Amino acid sequence: MFAKLFSVALVAGSTLASNSTNNLGQYAVQTLLQYGRPILGDYANCDSGLCTWMSTFPDDLPIVHMNIPGVHDTATWNYSQTTQDSLEHITASGITGNVTYQPVPAEIYRCQDQPIFEMLNGGIRAFDLRYAFDPTNSTLVFYHSQALQSETATVQDVLYGFYHWLDAHPTEGVFLSFMYEGSTTEWAQDNAAVQQMLYDTLTNDVAKEYISPIKDRFGTLGDVRGKITLLRRFTFDLLDSSAETSIPGVHFPPSNWTDNSPNITLIYNLQTNGTAYIEDYYNIGLPDGAGAAPNIQWKFNATTAHLEMAASEQWKDSLFWSFASSEHDTDLPLPETPMIQALGNGTDVPGVNQKLLPWLQEHKGSRWGIVMFDFFGDVPGLIEAFIGA
Ligand SMILES: *[C@@H]1O[C@H](CO)[C@@H](O)[C@H](O)[C@H]1NC(C)=O
Ligand SMILES: *[C@@H]1O[C@H](CO)[C@@H](O)[C@H](O)[C@H]1NC(C)=O
Ligand SMILES: *[C@@H]1O[C@H](CO)[C@@H](O)[C@H](O)[C@H]1NC(C)=O
Ligand SMILES: *[C@@H]1O[C@H](CO)[C@@H](O)[C@H](O)[C@H]1NC(C)=O
Ligand SMILES: *[C@@H]1O[C@H](CO)[C@@H](O)[C@H](O)[C@H]1NC(C)=O
Ligand SMILES: *[C@@H]1O[C@H](CO)[C@@H](O)[C@H](O)[C@H]1NC(C)=O
Ligand SMILES: *[C@@H]1O[C@H](CO)[C@@H](O)[C@H](O)[C@H]1NC(C)=O
Ligand SMILES: *[C@@H]1O[C@H](CO)[C@@H](O)[C@H](O)[C@H]1NC(C)=O
Ligand SMILES: *[C@@H]1O[C@H](CO)[C@@H](O)[C@H](O)[C@H]1NC(C)=O
Repeated sequence: MFAKLFSVALVAGSTLASNSTNNLGQYAVQTLLQYGRPILGDYANCDSGLCTWMSTFPDDLPIVHMNIPGVHDTATWNYSQTTQDSLEHITASGITGNVTYQPVPAEIYRCQDQPIFEMLNGGIRAFDLRYAFDPTNSTLVFYHSQALQSETATVQDVLYGFYHWLDAHPTEGVFLSFMYEGSTTEWAQDNAAVQQMLYDTLTNDVAKEYISPIKDRFGTLGDVRGKITLLRRFTFDLLDSSAETSIPGVHFPPSNWTDNSPNITLIYNLQTNGTAYIEDYYNIGLPDGAGAAPNIQWKFNATTAHLEMAASEQWKDSLFWSFASSEHDTDLPLPETPMIQALGNGTDVPGVNQKLLPWLQEHKGSRWGIVMFDFFGDVPGLIEAFIGA
């Protein structure tokens, strides 16, 4: 199954490159969107409001001065216990008994509840995408740790979804963060075959039409309309060095991305000193038993501290990238899942998203950079408050 899907993707690529209006090309795209549906959802026409919010900003606006709403762990939107159980026949083949690779309850992995096409129409423009080989080493698919997200949707299929959406929304620009996901199966590794397949997927003829060729810097909005900008949280260390030098986008080397840190400084361009400040404090380090309220408060504090830094004059030309997402999955007796951290634990303790909405409204007019949310759509007005500021 996995191998067959990959060959279909290649056929569609060459068909499209030669004649995009041809019927076979249209049919092939629909087939890929169908394979990608568990991650992409259903395409729906939309050409106003949040679907085209970038159209209201000028071409000469530097990307680093924008507020770009994003989503953390994009592919997990439909990861219910039913979905996990339905994929067990595949995930089981990646385990021989080491319990480390056995998925835990689904709610621990789930960070979103809308598919990519809805996210795009809802204003989201930055996407955290985590790939690894399927257990047969044939295609790149989506995982969150041990949790395989779909049996059919490959990275290639999902890219076609973005291409298709960008064709209909040429005023918009999309930022795709790709990261190799570890701990997927007992044997999986970010080996040369994985790196080669990602390289080929991101540089084939169709990709060249849609992926911005700008490298190692952020241009203006006008430069990236209708395009994908790669945020490369991977390094092609096992390929010929020409792979790293020819892949476009901005490099965020995994070795320089300090794990679980509220304030990472990462130089993405040594010639220009292009600098990114990143908040990625996701695993709240409070003692077990602390409960939802203080875990949420800690994350809210780390997020707003970083957003205040982003808003200050001193750092106005640097890239800011903050994650509003978090968890404390080992807390007892009840774990703080990504959903509890983002949306609270009921009616009594509000989540990071509910607390951020009035905070963003109060600080309207600031530059905040890229912010990755979990469950962004469950707090109405959050994205409008973020963009409108
Ligand atoms: C693409 O295919 C259509 C329909 O078959 C045809 O009318 C058109 O001339 C072709 N365009 C190119 C550039 O080959
Ligand atoms: C979402 O998950 C449910 C349960 O596994 C499944 O029936 C449904 O088809 C999935 N939706 C999509 C769009 O894949
Ligand atoms: C299971 O995998 C983990 C992570 O790779 C490793 O640390 C551990 O030693 C393994 N356990 C066994 C019994 O192989
Ligand atoms: C997949 O690749 C890994 C790493 O090279 C290897 O250990 C494993 O046996 C391969 N699995 C299959 C089914 O080929
Ligand atoms: C990244 O980290 C390595 C050490 O792991 C260091 O040598 C290098 O200078 C860092 N690069 C940047 C761009 O910060
Ligand atoms: C980058 O920073 C280094 C060290 O602070 C400095 O020597 C160099 O001149 C800077 N380069 C540019 C282009 O600003
Ligand atoms: C939510 O968390 C608070 C403390 O952080 C706790 O008192 C309350 O019982 C929790 N509510 C639910 C529904 O779990
Ligand atoms: C969060 O920040 C507020 C305001 O600065 C402070 O009063 C509170 O103690 C902080 N809470 C935590 C848990 O860090
Ligand atoms: C983050 O790090 C920078 C550079 O070290 C520092 O100047 C800044 O005050 C820190 N910001 C926060 C919110 O801790």
